[in-house]
Amino acid sequence: MKNFIIFGPPGAGKGSQAVILSKKYNLKHISTGDILRDEIKNRTKLGLKVKSLIDEGVLVSDHIILEIIESVIKHSKGYSGFLFDGFPRTENQFTQLKRMLEKLGHRVDAVISLVVEEEVLIKRMLSRAQIEGREDDANPIVVKKRIETYREQTEPLIDIFTKRGNYFTLTGNDTIENNFKKICNIIDNLETK
Ligand code: AP5
Ligand code: MG
Repeated sequence: MKNFIIFGPPGAGKGSQAVILSKKYNLKHISTGDILRDEIKNRTKLGLKVKSLIDEGVLVSDHIILEIIESVIKHSKGYSGFLFDGFPRTENQFTQLKRMLEKLGHRVDAVISLVVEEEVLIKRMLSRAQIEGREDDANPIVVKKRIETYREQTEPLIDIFTKRGNYFTLTGNDTIENNFKKICNIIDNLETK
């Protein structure tokens, strides 16, 4: 079993890569953002609780996120590993993820980080708002807040990943196809080790 984190700021291309990577490598794609948006769409208790936070562009509590992750991990069968997208976003989330995987005899095998300049991120999110209608993409103030939240609470994880090793960065400015090829190279080389 191989487990990966796809990391980067809002709009970096995590989801785009995660969808194609999970297909190719038979990974369970776990996007905490997608799961929360589904809860909101279905008007569940959890959805109602998190809606205002997502609308503001701030993080949902670690407690809620970790419960979701624990449950998805428990109920996923038949995959060759997990691909975490938009998670972990805090040091505590990463610590707890490692603990959950260790209990199953697994680890995070690699963290792949997409680096994209802020102007590009903002452009991508605002243009996606027109196509997909994600509410947190439509308002430039919320888009900025999401990036700010990332810088303050999530980016510090990079230091931890770097010290740990198996941390790979690539420029998300390249095309989706080229980035996909580069990530496949990283994964394939890991597997031969
Ligand atoms: P989440 O859904 O995770 O959103 P995000 O991190 O803000 O990232 P996005 O999904 O916007 O971007 P992405 O990197 O996936 O890029 P994508 O591939 O879509 O989180 C939403 C909210 O939920 C958070 O604000 C928070 O409130 C809450 N939340 C979620 N997880 C949480 C957690 N763990 N803890 C606490 N709170 C949590 O690409 C973006 C666009 O660019 C697309 O239109 C795409 O087609 C395009 N694109 C992608 N790659 C390229 C490329 N290479 N070239 C050109 N265009 C590209
Ligand atoms: Mg996404």
